[in-house]
Amino acid sequence: MIVYYSMERTKLNLISIIFCFLLFLSFKQLITKAQSPTYVGDDCNYTKPKPLTNAYQTNLNSILLNLSNDAATSKGYNYTSIGDNNTTKVYGLYDCRSDVVGFFCQFCVAAATREVLQRCPNRASATIFFTICILRYSNENFFGKVITYPAWNHLGDKNVSSVVEIQKGEDFMKGLIRKATNQTNQLFYMDGFNLSSTQRRYGLVQCTRDLTNEGCGQCLETLLSKIPKCCEHKLGWQVGCVSCLIRYDENMFYLHNQSPSPSVQADPQTGWLTPAYEEILNADLPTIPLITIQHCTGNFSETSKLGEGGFGSVYKGILPDGREIAVKRLSSSSGQGSEEFKNEVMFIAKLQHRNLVRLLACCLEGNEKLLVYEFMPNASLDFHLFDDEKRKKLDWKLSLSIINGIAKGLLYLHEDSRLRVIHRDLKASNVLLDHEMNPKISDFGLARAFDIGQIQANTRRIMGTYGYMAPEYTMEGVFSVKSDVFSFGVLVLEIISGKKNNGFYLSEGHGQSLLLYTWKKWCEGNCLELMDSVLEKSCIHNEVVRCINIGLLCVQEDAADRPTMSNVVVMLASDTMTLPKPKHPAFSIGRMTNEDASTSKSFKDPSNNDVTISNILPR
Ligand SMILES: *[C@@H]1O[C@H](CO)[C@@H](O)[C@H](O)[C@H]1NC(C)=O
Ligand SMILES: *[C@@H]1O[C@H](CO)[C@@H](O)[C@H](O)[C@H]1NC(C)=O
Ligand SMILES: *[C@@H]1O[C@H](CO)[C@@H](O)[C@H](O)[C@H]1NC(C)=O
Ligand SMILES: *[C@@H]1O[C@H](CO)[C@@H](O)[C@H](O)[C@H]1NC(C)=O
Ligand SMILES: *[C@@H]1O[C@H](CO)[C@@H](O)[C@H](O)[C@H]1NC(C)=O
Ligand SMILES: *[C@@H]1O[C@H](CO)[C@@H](O)[C@H](O)[C@H]1NC(C)=O
Ligand SMILES: *[C@@H]1O[C@H](CO)[C@@H](O)[C@H](O)[C@H]1NC(C)=O
Ligand SMILES: *[C@@H]1O[C@H](CO)[C@@H](O)[C@H](O)[C@H]1NC(C)=O
Ligand SMILES: *[C@@H]1O[C@H](CO)[C@@H](O)[C@H](O)[C@H]1NC(C)=O
Ligand SMILES: *[C@@H]1O[C@H](CO)[C@@H](O)[C@H](O)[C@H]1NC(C)=O
Repeated sequence: MIVYYSMERTKLNLISIIFCFLLFLSFKQLITKAQSPTYVGDDCNYTKPKPLTNAYQTNLNSILLNLSNDAATSKGYNYTSIGDNNTTKVYGLYDCRSDVVGFFCQFCVAAATREVLQRCPNRASATIFFTICILRYSNENFFGKVITYPAWNHLGDKNVSSVVEIQKGEDFMKGLIRKATNQTNQLFYMDGFNLSSTQRRYGLVQCTRDLTNEGCGQCLETLLSKIPKCCEHKLGWQVGCVSCLIRYDENMFYLHNQSPSPSVQADPQTGWLTPAYEEILNADLPTIPLITIQHCTGNFSETSKLGEGGFGSVYKGILPDGREIAVKRLSSSSGQGSEEFKNEVMFIAKLQHRNLVRLLACCLEGNEKLLVYEFMPNASLDFHLFDDEKRKKLDWKLSLSIINGIAKGLLYLHEDSRLRVIHRDLKASNVLLDHEMNPKISDFGLARAFDIGQIQANTRRIMGTYGYMAPEYTMEGVFSVKSDVFSFGVLVLEIISGKKNNGFYLSEGHGQSLLLYTWKKWCEGNCLELMDSVLEKSCIHNEVVRCINIGLLCVQEDAADRPTMSNVVVMLASDTMTLPKPKHPAFSIGRMTNEDASTSKSFKDPSNNDVTISNILPR
């Protein structure tokens, strides 16, 4: 739970100095303050070494192993003991910073359990601080006890500009302490506040979670009372002790804050997020060393390749602890990919929802720009939809739950996230499926943020995927939430029919697009003919008809006629609500492609039929 304000590199050896210098030269603007778990300090000098009994050492080794194993799956902390005989009993605790869970917590705890025995040999008790976690063990039961030593601090370089800031900062921190220690027993809180119209500040308070609310409050108040002497004149400080931590900074240093407030703004002209890249790199987005990624992807071998994403190849990797990850690698040849890479980092790191893919870490070393995601064992939706064998496993219940999940993810982007986000490239290959077949929207390389109140935007650069792009976007470069709704409608009809809109015209021999074919069947009153026969056994007819109805509403020619995603979610949730009658769908889309949907797909590269196009519109 401890984070350096600025990494003090006291023990750099020559190699790392050279390395850092090279890194600095090539990626000056990309250097991230956040690193993988880094040692901060320990309390070993507070106790004298003395030989441990074999029995105690054995229990100690066991508890360190137990804690390290536990960290991968816990909520980010645990405290427990081992042994019955009180001369050999060991109490142990770890606590990761509250925005750090799962792999990164485990990564830190594993490093801490390894290092504590080296740094504090022959100690019956010890505490070790790392950037994002704390580890503690003792022969005495310390659970619930407030320990405010050893108190340490780290300061930023800049001076605070005004007395006003000092007062506001202190009040803000007091507020955070109140929030961390109210009846919810959370024992941590992080947030930001506006110091002025142009300046924002961020804070975090946290206790080890063996404490009570009262104990936590007591610890944090004690630390806060030390601020005037040590720290308040500096812009950026951090004070910590065994039981708690406080940090104040001008940068948003934590990952997902508790009460979202906009810290990035969309440029009204372009929709790109600003301020650009630096902020996210200040956000402690964890980094994984390149060497680890190279190792776990077989040096980006062909056999580990999963496919091509929007701006580079995607590889599967297995981390040393056995966890599976997907690594997206920006191809060095593509200049435009670089913008998309930044865009992706900005959006994914700021957004969190069960129907969006989760970014775990990044790696910017040498010429490599890599993004590390949770691995999705069931690949992308297109792979299931358009493969004759795989498709048989998609019954109606599952299809409907996928439709619902995508709708909720998109609703979050459009209306519920801090930023209003238009994805602009929603398609079957950008919907990934986890081990339970929950859909997760991915690939934010083309996404744009909108300000509340802004209805639509124009672009000269039409980017997206034929077959999914709304007519007003293809023709005029106008995009809005309604162009995503259009893509969603296409996806719904594809899920029901098992056919690609892109290529339907040519491959199915109907001489019309999937949309027009659906429309024709709808008008004839035979819309169930659209449904793929594999769904026949499991489906509920009126649910299918409702979904086709909703799909057709979403692909209507006129964007104004299309529902919003919140309408769609409501319509999907209700069995009884009478749905509006759809008007004619857009004409143009299916004819713009000469791709053949029946092209066979390989397992390795499930998305190679979906070419994301980039096209400068002549004006
Ligand atoms: C502990 O003491 C040793 C020897 O006096 C010293 O070198 C080391 O820096 C101290 N460690 C800490 C964390 O204070
Ligand atoms: C803790 O470690 C010991 C020894 O390695 C092992 O026997 C025990 O099952 C572990 N307990 C848990 C809960 O993992
Ligand atoms: C803490 O870790 C121990 C040992 O691994 C485990 O038995 C216990 O269930 C964990 N406690 C919690 C609350 O996760
Ligand atoms: C506890 O362990 C110590 C050392 O192993 C042993 O001498 C002592 O008899 C044990 N006490 C009990 C009550 O088991
Ligand atoms: C062991 O128990 C005795 C009696 O309850 C107590 O006095 C002693 O402090 C305990 N030892 C440790 C290391 O906790
Ligand atoms: C910050 O303030 C201290 C003491 O007032 C002063 O010595 C120092 O030069 C200042 N640093 C900067 C960067 O202004
Ligand atoms: C306690 O604080 C949390 C935020 O941490 C807030 O959501 C909750 O409403 C507060 N509860 C009370 C009883 O004040
Ligand atoms: C904080 O500042 C930002 C940008 O200046 C602004 O959009 C936001 O509404 C402000 N928040 C509050 C709570 O005043
Ligand atoms: C990985 O590939 C790079 C470039 O092709 C090469 O320089 C490096 O030696 C390779 N590393 C391993 C471990 O194979
Ligand atoms: C999804 O993945 C899980 C775990 O890898 C697997 O057991 C299951 O069969 C997959 N489901 C489908 C429909 O392929």
